[in-house]
Amino acid sequence: MSMSNVDGRTLHPPTVDLRVEQQATLDRPRMKYTPMARFFFESMDFIYGKQLTMPKIKLIEILARIPYHAWEIKAYWRLTFGYHDEKIRREGLDLVKLGRLSQDNEFWHLIIAVEKIREDGIKESGFWFQFMPRVMALGYALFARLLATFNLKGAFLFNAMFEDHAEHEYAQFVKDHPELDQQPMKSDLVRQFGSHATWGDVFRHIGLDERFHRNESLREGGWVDQLAPYASLPAAVDAGPGIPLQAVGGSTRVKGDRFTGGTGTLLGPAGFAGPARPLRPA
Ligand SMILES: [Fe+2]
Ligand SMILES: [Fe+2]
Repeated sequence: MSMSNVDGRTLHPPTVDLRVEQQATLDRPRMKYTPMARFFFESMDFIYGKQLTMPKIKLIEILARIPYHAWEIKAYWRLTFGYHDEKIRREGLDLVKLGRLSQDNEFWHLIIAVEKIREDGIKESGFWFQFMPRVMALGYALFARLLATFNLKGAFLFNAMFEDHAEHEYAQFVKDHPELDQQPMKSDLVRQFGSHATWGDVFRHIGLDERFHRNESLREGGWVDQLAPYASLPAAVDAGPGIPLQAVGGSTRVKGDRFTGGTGTLLGPAGFAGPARPLRPA
């Protein structure tokens, strides 16, 4: 796995075992989705089929970036009016950083999907996989902005469900397609995301990224008891990002659930730059 943590490429400690984590996802029940989330997932299944396919992955990844952008916008508005308040500044900048990192990471997933579609020579319907995703992205952007503006906690919860769904879908996708483990990954572009030998591991890596997004969304909402830990690492290592999303001034987080202390550095050259953090607040 790549050691780089620049541009949202690597969110996990390099020692993580992707196969163990994939199985942990399959073993862990899905979150209890709200009717709204179920409607969202079922609508996508109705239009694009229940099975995950490469074009459907592309669609999901187009949408996945959007809520983080909405959070970033919301955070900046708060900062615009509350920059002088240390608590607002810290929380706002943390959310901005999380939003940026997550958007970059989701955009990598999209790039990877496009690379695989190209490699497989998949022909996509222009209407369903070019036009419709743009329409859906616009609708989803509106939804995400409204939710982030008027109910940020609800936005975190909805996104946690979106990401939980994505994590499980990827784990199942790799299980359903054992041929992916026989397909060598030769793309120089995808290698910048992670130097995996096969496409199977690329998609396991993406699935684990989705767990990161799920966990961080839950953490932002304060539901730290629902975090899904790494199965292949000691329990002391947090399932969250390898970055301390620490704001200016070297201060510790006020939400108390992301960090117990503020000692890390952002995006250090060694990749996984964050300190090992307890899963729950001390
Ligand atoms: Fe993604
Ligand atoms: Fe995601």
